[in-house]
Amino acid sequence: MSIRVEEVSKRFSTYPALAGVSLEIVDGEFVALLGPSGSGKTTLLRIIAGLDFPDSGVIRFGDRDVTDDPAAKRGIGFVFQHYALFGHMSVARNIAFGLDILPRRARPARAEIEARVDELLKLVQLEGYGERYPAQLSGGQRQRVALARALARNPRFLLLDEPFGALDTKVRRELRDALRIIHDEIGLTSIFVTHDHEEAFALADRVAILNAGRIEQFAAPAEILERPASPFVTSFVA
Ligand SMILES: Nc1ncnc2c1ncn2[C@@H]1O[C@H](COP(=O)(O)OP(=O)(O)O)[C@@H](O)[C@H]1O
Ligand SMILES: [Mg+2]
Repeated sequence: MSIRVEEVSKRFSTYPALAGVSLEIVDGEFVALLGPSGSGKTTLLRIIAGLDFPDSGVIRFGDRDVTDDPAAKRGIGFVFQHYALFGHMSVARNIAFGLDILPRRARPARAEIEARVDELLKLVQLEGYGERYPAQLSGGQRQRVALARALARNPRFLLLDEPFGALDTKVRRELRDALRIIHDEIGLTSIFVTHDHEEAFALADRVAILNAGRIEQFAAPAEILERPASPFVTSFVA
């Protein structure tokens, strides 16, 4: 399903965090939101997710206007920079969390949940780690758990906000490759926020470059490198 952002604006006090942003992400696409700190990346991602709401403009999933729908109704999986795993729960319970908390009528049977956890552990290459606790994992392993947890309810969309920012370069590369493979395998539509142009260009089908709440260019990496749309883009990707 496509995601359409139409003329979205958002102010915090007087300063515009987003100033008339429009963007269409096609079904199955992997898009990176790239820009310096404070350019509006997180604000745009939160508005797409339903964790925040625009002052004006519309968000559509397919043809449906979801602008006023809360996050819980949008069918989205999230991964944040800081792991936000529950330290007192095993890896398996962390991954199953979104399923375990469903009301009984909607909740899969116990055995089905455990089978789903095993499947997700395999997907993120952590088979056999289900009984460990987050403190017993490396930073990269924790982010793999966070990714598995985000996918537990079969979301249509995966949104990631600088998920590998706290990791060293080698682990970042491994996770980046794993994420792209998972995106393609499951047929997700993904949006990945980063301030690292190398990471954005390595991962994404198209990259939206933000500057001060506006999109300077939205295009495939090769197009941006060959034909940067503005002096800002030229200097930011240099
Ligand atoms: N909850 C908030 N209250 C006040 N200002 C905010 C809030 N969230 C973001 N901002 C401001 O909006 C602008 C864009 O922020 P953000 O979307 O977090 O940028 P990025 O993720 O690109 O670093 C920044 O100037 C930031 O200080
Ligand atoms: Mg941010």
